[in-house]
Amino acid sequence: MDYKIAVIPGDGIGPEIVGASIKVLDKIAEKFNHTFNYTEVLAGGAAIDACDNPLPQETVDICLDSDAVLLGALGGPKWDNLPGDKRPEAGLLGLRKSLGLYANLRPAILYEELKAACPLKPEIIGEGLDIMVVRELTGDVYFGEKGRDGDFAAWDIMKYTRPEVLRIAKKAFEIAMKRDKKVTNVDKANVLEVSRFWRSCVEEVAKDYPEVELNHLYVDNAAMQLVINPKQFDVIVTGNLFGDILSDEASMITGSIGMLPSASMADGKFGMFEPIHGSAPDIANQDKANPIHGSAPDIANQDKANPIHGSAPDIANQDKANPIATIVSVAMMLRYSLDLIAEADAIEAAVKKTLAQGYRTGDIFSAGMALVGTTQMGQKIIDNL
Ligand code: IPM
Ligand code: MG
Repeated sequence: MDYKIAVIPGDGIGPEIVGASIKVLDKIAEKFNHTFNYTEVLAGGAAIDACDNPLPQETVDICLDSDAVLLGALGGPKWDNLPGDKRPEAGLLGLRKSLGLYANLRPAILYEELKAACPLKPEIIGEGLDIMVVRELTGDVYFGEKGRDGDFAAWDIMKYTRPEVLRIAKKAFEIAMKRDKKVTNVDKANVLEVSRFWRSCVEEVAKDYPEVELNHLYVDNAAMQLVINPKQFDVIVTGNLFGDILSDEASMITGSIGMLPSASMADGKFGMFEPIHGSAPDIANQDKANPIHGSAPDIANQDKANPIHGSAPDIANQDKANPIATIVSVAMMLRYSLDLIAEADAIEAAVKKTLAQGYRTGDIFSAGMALVGTTQMGQKIIDNL
């Protein structure tokens, strides 16, 4: 079969990790007899540099005309001082909105081979972790009305409509049906009207899925439960803002952050696939040394003087970046958008095998393992296909 794939290499390490992933995809094409037609398009910093716009219309048009979109990483310090609507992030948010990508699936899986990197105690992780965070991606404070009254006040409206909640809840229940049939809804219904509304919509959808067990957690409690008892979770469904925060937490506790893919899905099969690290530039430098006290939450996380970007500009063009998250994002793309299940399985198996053989990029390196660069890691995975 022939498939059209829009490719957004993006900024920083983006082009390298996407380059390595395309080589894996080419190998899949050869092995399984497919043709992947790639169209490279600009977004984020690269687009700002080329045409002074983080999301050119041409990019949106080409993406919409494709079967799926593969994205590397957007952003970097070079563009940090631009106004909000001109920043690379505006390109990412614009892509989500204009492509209708309302369902963000962020799996948090603990790789057996990287168990030592998990920051939680062995008795807490037990046999392993496998959580799917289903985050609503085109509503909430991210896209609500915003405003500013000079230097006196500013606001972002947190709003959800019934159709928006119903469709994301449905997505979460559908996913749970293929997993352990458990959905945890996360909201702040003890305080927010929007959350009470959200919760009632989720309960309405739950009626269509009697086999799925539904429970509710307030977001503050959910954040805590993720570290004290993460095994209780199968599918977590939540709004855009809470999902942004909890998905970073969930992926970080697996210790596999550099390894995790993500999918942003529209209705039907169309989606955009990207490594989690790329879409979460703010997680890389959490100083975990300071325990956060209930009585002093305001002092937490204030030591982030140098934000590390998802596009990791400091290691760009040095053949050092870990391409695995992007390569498994390609597997997710094959599985969810192109229905190529055997092909997706093959990539995931090749990644596992490569890790089992002891190959590691710098970010996941430990003593006794073989240190490889981006290109070599990609090649090892291809060899194992
Ligand atoms: C993410 C990121 C984005 C978000 C930023 C870069 C706009 O944190 O994908 O989680 O907040 O959604
Ligand atoms: Mg984030």
